[in-house]
Amino acid sequence: MLDSALSYAKENEDKALEELFEFLKISSISAKPEHASDCRQAGEWVAEKLKTIGVENVELVEVETGGPPLVLGDWLHAGDAPTVLIYGHYDVQPVEPLELWETPPFEPNVRDGKVYARGTADDKGQLFLIIRAVESWLKSGKPPVNIRFLIEGEEESGGKGIHAFLKDPANHPRCKADFALIADSSFVSEGKPTITTALRGILYTELRVTGPGHDLHSGVAGGAVMNPLNALSWILAKLVDEKTGKVLIPGFYDGIQFTEQDRKEISELGLDEKSWLKSMGTKKDWGEEGFSIAERTGARPTLDINGIWGGFQGKGAKTVIASTAGAKVSMRLVPGQEPGDVFQKLEAYLKEITPEQITLEVRRLAGSKAIQIPSDLSEIKTASAVLEEVFGKKAVFERCGGSVPVGGDFKEYLGINTVYMGFGLPDDRVHSPNESFSLSQFHKGCQCVIRYLDALSSA
Ligand code: BES
Ligand code: MN
Ligand code: MN
Repeated sequence: MLDSALSYAKENEDKALEELFEFLKISSISAKPEHASDCRQAGEWVAEKLKTIGVENVELVEVETGGPPLVLGDWLHAGDAPTVLIYGHYDVQPVEPLELWETPPFEPNVRDGKVYARGTADDKGQLFLIIRAVESWLKSGKPPVNIRFLIEGEEESGGKGIHAFLKDPANHPRCKADFALIADSSFVSEGKPTITTALRGILYTELRVTGPGHDLHSGVAGGAVMNPLNALSWILAKLVDEKTGKVLIPGFYDGIQFTEQDRKEISELGLDEKSWLKSMGTKKDWGEEGFSIAERTGARPTLDINGIWGGFQGKGAKTVIASTAGAKVSMRLVPGQEPGDVFQKLEAYLKEITPEQITLEVRRLAGSKAIQIPSDLSEIKTASAVLEEVFGKKAVFERCGGSVPVGGDFKEYLGINTVYMGFGLPDDRVHSPNESFSLSQFHKGCQCVIRYLDALSSA
C-alpha cells in the first residue's frame, strides 16, 4: 500500500507541478480588500481539488467576521486509526515592492530547481504537498488514518475568521481529531530536517499621529508648529534601544523566563550564524545583547516597525508639513506574555512619550499568544523518524520566530497539539519579493507526509 502511494506521487510529479502553478496564479492577497474575490477563488480551487481527489463533505464555510471562507472536508474510513486535522492557508502576503521581482509574483516559473511566485513556500506549495500526499493515498488504495481538512484564507492578515470558528463549540465535532498537522514552517538549513516545537506569538498594531488640522507650507510654519512626522520619528525611536536591542516599553519583559535549559537546548541546534546571516542578505547581526541569533529569534520577544507613511513621497521636492502620519508596529511575544496585557503597556507608554501638540491613536490589528509543543509527543517522535528516513539526517527541534496563531486555538478550543512539519528553507524569501520553494523540498515533503500517515497508523 505504502509503495503504491509513493509511486503514485512519483509518477505524477509533472501533473502536480502544473496544478501547483494553477493555484499560484490566483492572487489571493488577504490583506487587500480589492483581492477579496481572488481569495474566494483560491478557496474554491482548494475545495474543487479536494473533491476531485475523493475527500468527502467538502464545503466552503463562510466566517462570521466576513473574511475569505474556510475550506472543510474529511475522509473518515480508517476505523480506529488516529484522526489527523490538516491545516494550511491559501492566502498570501502582499507583493510590493513589485519592481524587485525578477518575474511577476503571480506568474510561477521554475529556475535552478525552485518555483518562484508569491505563496510558493508560504503556504500554497506546502499546503499542496500535503493535499498531494492525501491524493496519493486515495488514488492508490485507502489512507491509513482518518483525515480532516481545515484550511483558511486569512492567516496572513490575522485569521479572525478561523479564530471565531474554533471558539464556537458547535463547530468542534467537525474538527475532532487526535492532533493537527501543519506544513507552514522551515528547516533550519538545507539538509537538516526540522520540527518546529515553539512559535512566537504576535501583537500587531497601527499608530496614527495627527498635528495641525491641515498640511502646512514648511517655510511658513516650519520651526513653529510641531511636525507630526518628526514627532512620529521621535516616538518610534523610543520603542527599541539601538545599542542593547531591548524593547523600551515598561514591563514588556515581565513574566517571561529564559533558563539555562533553554540556552542549552537552543545551542544544541548548532545554528551556523554565518550562513544564516548570508541567507538573510546581511553580514552583521543586531539584537538584544547577551543572546545568540537563535535565542533572539526563537525565545526572546521583539518589536519591529513594519511600515511608516506620511508626507511627500513622490519624485522631486515638496516643502510641506503633513498633518498626519502613521506606522505599523508589531511585537513578537514569547511564553509568559499576553497580547492584551502588552497592548495596554504599549498604550500607556505611548501616552507618556507623545508630545502634547500631537494626538496619537493606536489600534490593535492582530494578537496571539506564543505556542509551545512538548517534543516527547508520540506524533512528534513518529514525524522525526520519517523525516530522518527521507532526508537521511536526524531531525532537529527548533523554536521559530514566526507565528502560526491557529495552533494556539487548536490547543485551547479542541484540546489537541500540533505537529509543525514544514519544508521551507531559510532562503525562500517568504513575505519578500522573489519568494520561492525548492522543488526537491516539495517532492520530498510530499513523500514524508505519505510515509507519516502510514507510520501513524502503526505507531
Ligand atoms: N508561515 C508563516 C509563519 C512562519 C514563517 C513560520 C517562517 C515559520 C517560519 C505564517 O504564514 C506567517 O507569516 N504568519 C504571520 C502571522 C501574522 C500575520 C499574524 C507572521 O508570523 O508574521
Ligand atoms: Mn504561512
Ligand atoms: Mn506568512
